[in-house]
Amino acid sequence: MMKPSKPERRRFILPSFLFILFLCVLALIVEVRLDSLLKFGQCVNSFSSSQSYNSPTMVANSSSSDNDDEIRILIGIPTLADQYQRRHFLRLIYGTQSPVGAKIDVKFVFCNLTKEDQKVLVALEIMRYDDIIILNCKENMNKGKTLTFFSSLPEIFNDKNGSYPPYHYIMKGDDDTYFRFNNLVESLKPLPREDLYYGYVIPCSSMDPFKHYMSGMGYLVSWDIVEWIRESDIPKKQFEGPEDKVFGDWMRNGKRGKNRFNAKWSMYNYPEPPSTCTHELWPDTIAVHLLKNQEKWIRTLKYFNVTHDLKPSKMYHIA
Ligand SMILES: *[C@@H]1O[C@H](CO)[C@@H](O)[C@H](O)[C@H]1NC(C)=O
Ligand SMILES: *[C@@H]1O[C@H](CO)[C@@H](O)[C@H](O)[C@H]1NC(C)=O
Ligand SMILES: *[C@@H]1O[C@H](CO)[C@@H](O)[C@H](O)[C@H]1NC(C)=O
Ligand SMILES: *[C@@H]1O[C@H](CO)[C@@H](O)[C@H](O)[C@H]1NC(C)=O
Repeated sequence: MMKPSKPERRRFILPSFLFILFLCVLALIVEVRLDSLLKFGQCVNSFSSSQSYNSPTMVANSSSSDNDDEIRILIGIPTLADQYQRRHFLRLIYGTQSPVGAKIDVKFVFCNLTKEDQKVLVALEIMRYDDIIILNCKENMNKGKTLTFFSSLPEIFNDKNGSYPPYHYIMKGDDDTYFRFNNLVESLKPLPREDLYYGYVIPCSSMDPFKHYMSGMGYLVSWDIVEWIRESDIPKKQFEGPEDKVFGDWMRNGKRGKNRFNAKWSMYNYPEPPSTCTHELWPDTIAVHLLKNQEKWIRTLKYFNVTHDLKPSKMYHIA
């Protein structure tokens, strides 16, 4: 192809730039929202980066959105110290997701270490990944680990110099649940950041978030509820039993969670075996639960195209 001469190129630049500006203004009018200014920047950016010309980048760095708008979420996944493989797997799953407009920290939560080898291996993991919380407790499932988890958080994260709240939302997730961060964040954006109790309401057939409680597959509360759990006597008096149900009892007895959000059917159990709690995999998904074996994980990950962004390279060939 012949390169156009310089004046011709310049003649081309101006109209195309005006056209881009026109498109951006159009987009702006269509979507008049608070964050539209940022969108404008991204819009110009996406056009200008696809141009071969070195047009001036009048672009706000998208990292400048690291401010009040950004939702901070902690996902605590209770597990056991010896579950090295499971943690490795979940780090792969979540380390390859980069949510837009939010900071999501996934932390693995267990009680006191009990073996000498753990003291080496877990310490190495912490040095490498820094994503482990060791609570002051003896390992247990339905005898208060959840209470220890939530009530330890204010002290663990009370950095006087840091942001307040340290996290807007705390989620307790299962290690056999697959979370899709972008959809989680989108669902949270319109919701209150106070007194929120969010999840998949039990019983499965109910769509009323005030009915019973949110399933342990993944429930989320705002930071004020975490502080309440630490201070209130209600959880201290009653913490034995299925942790998700017990949590729901705290909310009811303490009159907490006036704001509730039922994320069903964006959260659901894996389609097999079918039950009233399942749903087919579909695009509008925040979480899939009961991924009890590799086959179910693989089918789920494939369905959501998680490897589509693999960049081509001479180093490998994956069909
Ligand atoms: C823009 O963002 C990138 C990555 O988030 C960061 O490394 C860089 O320092 C930022 N530049 C400015 C000017 O803020
Ligand atoms: C957990 O470990 C800490 C530090 O070693 C110890 O002080 C605490 O008593 C232990 N807690 C339990 C419940 O065993
Ligand atoms: C908080 O910031 C002050 C001043 O920058 C510093 O001296 C202090 O060590 C910081 N405290 C913590 C807990 O990081
Ligand atoms: C995965 O990719 C295929 C092919 O590009 C597309 O048809 C499908 O909608 C995608 N699935 C999801 C859940 O995004």
